[in-house]
Amino acid sequence: MPRFNHARIERSTSLLFILTLMVISIGGLVEIVPLFKVESTVKPVEGVRPYTPLEQMGRNIYTREGCYTCHSQMIRPFRDEVERYGHYSIAAESMYDHPFLWGSKRTGPDLARVGLKYSNEWQVAHLVDPRSVVPVSIMPSYAALLDRDLDVSEVSEHLRALRAVGVPYSQEMIARAEADLTAQANGTDPEEMQRRYPGAKVGDYDGQPDRITEMDALVAYLQVLGTMVDFTDVRLESGIGAGIAGSKVEGGQ
Ligand code: HEC
Repeated sequence: MPRFNHARIERSTSLLFILTLMVISIGGLVEIVPLFKVESTVKPVEGVRPYTPLEQMGRNIYTREGCYTCHSQMIRPFRDEVERYGHYSIAAESMYDHPFLWGSKRTGPDLARVGLKYSNEWQVAHLVDPRSVVPVSIMPSYAALLDRDLDVSEVSEHLRALRAVGVPYSQEMIARAEADLTAQANGTDPEEMQRRYPGAKVGDYDGQPDRITEMDALVAYLQVLGTMVDFTDVRLESGIGAGIAGSKVEGGQ
């Protein structure tokens, strides 16, 4: 009897189609419905804020230049990775990342916690000529970024687009984006910008105080990576890596 039914299903394309659709829908629902609740499954963590306009522009340059093809931004919960790079990455740290840049290949080291590991001067020297600071490096040079003025004309639009996909940029942040970008890169009157983006660092990142270049933005982005969450006293309840959680994070190789 079951065999007979099966043969009937296989011979009738429309019946097969309808039944296949039903089975796929059930599988789809099981996979998709939980995603609607994803906001509640990613627990917000203190300190994680949207990127400042300057950092976000740097992130765009990082994406444009394809840095993610050689660098991952996700530390997995394995002892060797945690000892080398610091506390393993948690979901909340990339909750405002669109697109995410976790990467899938490490020709160079993971950069999830590279922020504040080196000085701005080191970062610039390294990007201009990697071999000048790491003689065996195979990383390409990005010296051109130092000569390219950052295009700030559409920075508000970038924030607006991110807001559309859920990043909580306020109308004020969008309207003041260009001013906030300048305040961070020039270090002049940064208080208002820092009120909107708590903990944002300021300064002339590229060593050229009279202009704002793509290098300024990229270095501002690199310097914020992994610095938003303070892992000094973190104790995660359970799971892999519970043994290492709670240890002070040294953040580095
Ligand atoms: C072809 C692969 C490749 C590309 C593309 C690449 N890098 Fe690298 N990067 C490396 C390698 C290899 C190293 C390790 C040697 C060194 O420090 O130069 C490295 C090191 C680094 C470091 C130092 C990390 C640390 O913890 O010491 C930073 C920061 C960095 N890269 C940033 C960037 C940025 C930003 C871009 C894009 C503009 C980029 N890289 C593109 C290969 C690459």
